[in-house]
Amino acid sequence: MPKFFITTAIDYPNGAPHIGHAYEKVLADVIARYRRLRGDEVFFLTGVDQHGQKMQQTADQEGVNVATLAKRNTKKFINLWKTLGVEYDGWAETTDDRHKLCVQRILSTLHDQGQLYKKAYRGFYSVRQEQYLTEKDRNEKGEFGTEWGEVVELEEENWYFKLSEHAAWLKEAVTSGKFGILPEFRRTEVLNAIERAEDTDLCISRPKERLHWGIELPFDSNFVTYVWFDALINYISFAGYGDEGGDSLPDFAALWPANVQIIGKDILVPAHAIYWPCMLHAMGFSEDQMPTLLVHGWWNIKKKKEELGEGEEDQEKMSKSLNNVVDPAELAEHFSVDAVRYYVVRDIITGKDSTFDVQRLISLFNSELANDLGNLLNRSLNMTKRFIGGELRESSYTDDDCEAVRSSLQQSTAAYLAAMDLYDVPGALKAINGHVVHCNQFIERNPPFELRKDESQSDRVATILHHLCESCAHLGVLLSPALPAASAKILGQLRAVELIPAKIDDLAWGLLPVGHEIGKQKPVFPRIVNPDSAP
Ligand code: ME8
Ligand code: MG
Repeated sequence: MPKFFITTAIDYPNGAPHIGHAYEKVLADVIARYRRLRGDEVFFLTGVDQHGQKMQQTADQEGVNVATLAKRNTKKFINLWKTLGVEYDGWAETTDDRHKLCVQRILSTLHDQGQLYKKAYRGFYSVRQEQYLTEKDRNEKGEFGTEWGEVVELEEENWYFKLSEHAAWLKEAVTSGKFGILPEFRRTEVLNAIERAEDTDLCISRPKERLHWGIELPFDSNFVTYVWFDALINYISFAGYGDEGGDSLPDFAALWPANVQIIGKDILVPAHAIYWPCMLHAMGFSEDQMPTLLVHGWWNIKKKKEELGEGEEDQEKMSKSLNNVVDPAELAEHFSVDAVRYYVVRDIITGKDSTFDVQRLISLFNSELANDLGNLLNRSLNMTKRFIGGELRESSYTDDDCEAVRSSLQQSTAAYLAAMDLYDVPGALKAINGHVVHCNQFIERNPPFELRKDESQSDRVATILHHLCESCAHLGVLLSPALPAASAKILGQLRAVELIPAKIDDLAWGLLPVGHEIGKQKPVFPRIVNPDSAP
């Protein structure tokens, strides 16, 4: 069986999860479920990034123990994934002993190989980004811009990783595409950033007097590991790297390299596109063992009209300090899990930004799910029940319109597969909707509720209803990665669960045989009726 190893960024649990976190996890979950349908053996790894200065700062501000804070907030993430139906196979917590041991082993090896060195450094440090800044980080005015947050001048000794020694190799791996970065336009951004790595090594330690919340360096107990060096290793430590085996841990040799590592655009450069491949290379991984990055865009927040200044943009970045984060658990509670899952992957082009707008969530749900698909399901099942007793009948009737239904389904399925293979989830959902709309128009042109009044049309009615139920079964399968719960309801009502092939590639016309009896219809997508009560 082909394997498919998919990871997401591991989230900072220094607060509650927001809509950006939910987007990334649902996107990964949709892709993981889709790859399973394709017949891949999928390992989906996600988790939380519990160390670092941000965590320590938040804990200090709130007057709690940092380990307690990490535990408490980690629960909020786990609970949300459960609520949203995000089903992962591996859960990474960086305070886990297994992970710590793995990080320390890697550090020891790199130290023994002479890839690490200690030196004193005086320079500017961004507290928010947890990194030292160089002259190249100054803007046109010669200042460190607001994106760096508070910048302080520090002088201290630290340990460094010889990142610069891998820069030429990295440039080649990115240029040749061996180290894959999607979408394509992000590659240029990375190539520009490599130039900068050519003469800058990476500081991988923090003195304990400044930061205690981290993994101690195995060869110098005055320091803890820089949070990014620690966090990036989760992708291999929780995939069984360096494990002696014995228990039921994943088989690293079979899993690596990750087929896709999903991250947001803010953590592409330098962390995932520079540090990460260079770390892997230093550990002995070749360019053929590099993962592929899928870089998604940003969900921004729309400012309310009354808050807008003259000529000001109506979008702003979501951030804890702006206090404008959207709580996905609250949204799911209010509108349903289906509505939230559908919205976050449907209303943003993979790789691009979008603006969160609760009215869009409502209108997309009401139009594409409640009106289009919901209506099709209700009508197909109800008419089949009422007009032919719920049992699909033998009929040799066909015509151009029926044939058009079959070819619409074929085309929609092909478009769906092509889009999903490229991680274009909105494109795939649009393809599904294309067939739904076709079927509803088919009903308008061939209304069974009129045709049935004419006895001589009974074969035609039977064929029409068969085409509709068969279409609904296919739609249920195609929808299952994005909306697993709704899909189960659809297939359950059609009594088609047992008739679905294990692999989506084997999905073909003829799932529901003559004589098949459908079940009871119940609305799967009840309309959102009170848009004004949005949270
Ligand atoms: O960056 N829209 O954690 P994080 C879309 N711990 N995606 C968003 C987003 C938004 N508004 N806000 C955040 C970290 N994200 C590190 C990662 S990986 C070894 C360590 C995405 O909690 C963000 O781009 O700040 C990232 O991929 C993920 O959520 C976690 O962000
Ligand atoms: Mg972040």
